[in-house]
Amino acid sequence: MRMFEGMTEEQAREQVLSMVSAYCDAYHKPQTAFRQGTRIPYAARVYDSREMVNLADSALEFWLTAGRYAARFEKRFAEYLSVGHCALVNSGSSANLLAFMALTSPLLGERRINRGDEVITVAAGFPTTVAPIIQYGAVPVFVDVTIPQYNMDASRLEDALSPKTKAVVAAHTLGNPFDIKAVKAFCDKYNLWLIEDNCDALGSEYTLDGKSKLTGTFGDIGTSSFYPPHHMTMGEGGAAYTDNALLSKIMFSIRDWGRDCVCASGQDNLCGHRFDRRHGELPFGYDHKYVYSHFGYNLKATDMQAAIGVAQLEKLPSFLERRRHNFDRLKAALASARNKLILPEPCANADPSWFGFLLTCKDGADRAKIVPFIESKGIQTRMLFAGNLIRQPCFDRMRGSGEGYRVAGDLRNTDRIMNDTFWVGVYPGMTDEMADHMAKTIIEAVR
Ligand SMILES: Cc1ncc(COP(=O)(O)O)c(C=O)c1O
Repeated sequence: MRMFEGMTEEQAREQVLSMVSAYCDAYHKPQTAFRQGTRIPYAARVYDSREMVNLADSALEFWLTAGRYAARFEKRFAEYLSVGHCALVNSGSSANLLAFMALTSPLLGERRINRGDEVITVAAGFPTTVAPIIQYGAVPVFVDVTIPQYNMDASRLEDALSPKTKAVVAAHTLGNPFDIKAVKAFCDKYNLWLIEDNCDALGSEYTLDGKSKLTGTFGDIGTSSFYPPHHMTMGEGGAAYTDNALLSKIMFSIRDWGRDCVCASGQDNLCGHRFDRRHGELPFGYDHKYVYSHFGYNLKATDMQAAIGVAQLEKLPSFLERRRHNFDRLKAALASARNKLILPEPCANADPSWFGFLLTCKDGADRAKIVPFIESKGIQTRMLFAGNLIRQPCFDRMRGSGEGYRVAGDLRNTDRIMNDTFWVGVYPGMTDEMADHMAKTIIEAVR
């Protein structure tokens, strides 16, 4: 108590925050020095005192739930993406759930996705891109991907179509934009929804009709993840965004318990009609705060997460630049390994903001030997997530019965990825020395 004697609350807060800033500078210095044996992770948080000060500021305010930082983040993130509406949520998986469930809303009439309807997607990716489709009782239809782009093979889309197809849901794999031109033309032709899982591709650009835009903004809804390895972080966190006002209204309703009311946490009667409307079969004047137009969830993030996100967003351009730099450096350094490894290629018309550097073994190169060797040298590796999702244990029952999903054509490349592909990091904390060491070790491994 004596510590703050004679101070206003604001002065005391400033003092605490300046100490937090000094603490971060002293004890959270980024590790840039590279020595032989230093472990090189595939990704890591990159932050400084600004994130920690924002976090402490929101903690001192103790609002806890979504508040002023969440509102600021939603506004700034929407501005960054040039989209009309952004809903902050507690993870990328929640963003995918929200995006998909929004398309099941009765407010969409004929275009609503019903149980049993089909959604075209891929099996070579992250499980929670697909999980909401299955959880709801719709039917994922898997098409193969191309190597070395690792994205949906757009030439397979027509074959995957059926009278039940309602949507395409796909990720821009590890930052590489899929063939947006072809996928969008297909969706427009058949009046299908398009969800872009943009969780690994924040900052990727794609040129369509001579205009370059950020991925996540071409389809009806885009999603992001702010889990620590991603392009920016808030610990746990995610966002779903759209330019469509109706989809936005539905997303906010489903995110916030399914409610009809749009008041922020702690706010009352923003619309001025809290007690003078009839809803469903409720008595006239039933409190609008407790009227539910959807069966929703609570997917909100806390203000402490958003506070970190606000600071990270300011650094995003420098993060993206460094990721591209690291990717280019690794690719140049690995050119001599092309006889044993397939190096990643951007899709046409794309400027990827890479999440990682994908490698596929060929001509006798054996992933089962190469990956443990690289790991033993301190370089962290990752698989392309589920490999072939259909071959995962979560699919055992469905695979056994052959029901609840469909495969259009073969999944030859998807299986190849499951068997032969791995990836290493390009995160912004990675220095040139680290990238060079990684390339040298990978070349050593394939020899
Ligand atoms: C493509 C993709 N979608 C969704 C997610 C899920 O994001 P989160 O971990 O924030 O739930 C991930 C996770 O890394 C991902 O890579």
